[in-house]
Amino acid sequence: MARIVLRDLVKTFGAYTAVDGINFEVKDGEFLIMVGPSGCGKTTTLNMISGLETPTSGEIVIGNAVVNDLEPGERGLGMVFQDLALFPHMSVFENIAFGLRVKRVPEDEIRRRVVAAAEAVHIKPLLDKLPRQCSGGESQRVALARTIVTNPSVFLMDEPLSSLDAKLRVDMRTELKGLHRRLGATFVYVTHDQAEAMTMADRIVVMNRGRVEQLGTPLEIYGRPASLFVAGFFGTPTMNFIEGTIEAEGAGRLFRSRAIAHPLPASVPAALAGRSVVLGVRAEHVFVEKEGERRGEVRLTEPLGDATLVFFDCGLPTPLVAKAPPNTPLAPGHALAFRFAPEHCHLFDAVAGTRLN
Ligand SMILES: Nc1ncnc2c1ncn2[C@@H]1O[C@H](COP(=O)(O)OP(=O)(O)OP(=O)(O)O)[C@@H](O)[C@H]1O
Ligand SMILES: [Mg+2]
Repeated sequence: MARIVLRDLVKTFGAYTAVDGINFEVKDGEFLIMVGPSGCGKTTTLNMISGLETPTSGEIVIGNAVVNDLEPGERGLGMVFQDLALFPHMSVFENIAFGLRVKRVPEDEIRRRVVAAAEAVHIKPLLDKLPRQCSGGESQRVALARTIVTNPSVFLMDEPLSSLDAKLRVDMRTELKGLHRRLGATFVYVTHDQAEAMTMADRIVVMNRGRVEQLGTPLEIYGRPASLFVAGFFGTPTMNFIEGTIEAEGAGRLFRSRAIAHPLPASVPAALAGRSVVLGVRAEHVFVEKEGERRGEVRLTEPLGDATLVFFDCGLPTPLVAKAPPNTPLAPGHALAFRFAPEHCHLFDAVAGTRLN
């Protein structure tokens, strides 16, 4: 069993707390992605799982055993880092074979396993090349094959795609997802790229300042962010945020800011009346048209091809953004009307940032 459990895990460097008491479980065979801004403690957490860093306190369980006191090599893990560190003077074959040679695996078994690992990441034709004769994406696959060949039940990956260009990164996402399915191993993957996390993960752990902000499937995190931080971290363009208060009268619920008022669904608890909140609504849940009640003025439009972003002023300190059809007739200077999809209005506490609805 290759599940991993982190219990009250803490790591301090002198007076600085890099990981501040985190708890979560990675299920056997799961593709779990840790995501968060630079410095939030992702690498430190991964290094504690691998054994490269010693926890200040807390426990790490792999399978059914506490591994805090095991050396990295005794934990049965495979690691892939951002810095590939291939041996430049060795062929791709020898780079992949290296770990097996160290363990004195018989020659015919080495050949068989290297070829199988190379096939898993589609680099069999490259086995006789030197690393410098490989492209960035090919080198990345060599690094993966080098880990696959040791047959770990858990793969730990720290930003393995960050040195690749944008197009290749997108291709490699699909590759990695397929590889995970074929190997059936547990993947723990670190990135600061929200799109990478959304597209590959079974579940995502969102970290911020050494703590876990939310753990959930990509759609849970996108559809019901647990905090303002998570809401702002996921999604392009960034979610619209508006400060205001809640009013409740009978079954009616209203969000009111200085510039606008907007109805909310009756499911918003009446107990929130009078509360200072931040309303969050994604661009795809803001509807704009020429005629209607709530008025604004188009500031600029950004065609994306499959949609057009419409940024508009409506008396708020910052413009709101709506995702409109690509052929929208709206242009800068035009008046427009807007409304939000009430069931997609997210409410957060204005001070604590926690979700309220
Ligand atoms: N050996 C160390 N000594 C002192 N501080 C450290 C050490 N390693 C990490 N830190 C600090 O701990 C915090 C978390 O670092 P970590 O490398 O885990 O961040 P990260 O989430 O991986 O960020 P990035 O996305 O930039 O890689 C950072 O503020 C970093 O400066
Ligand atoms: Mg890091």
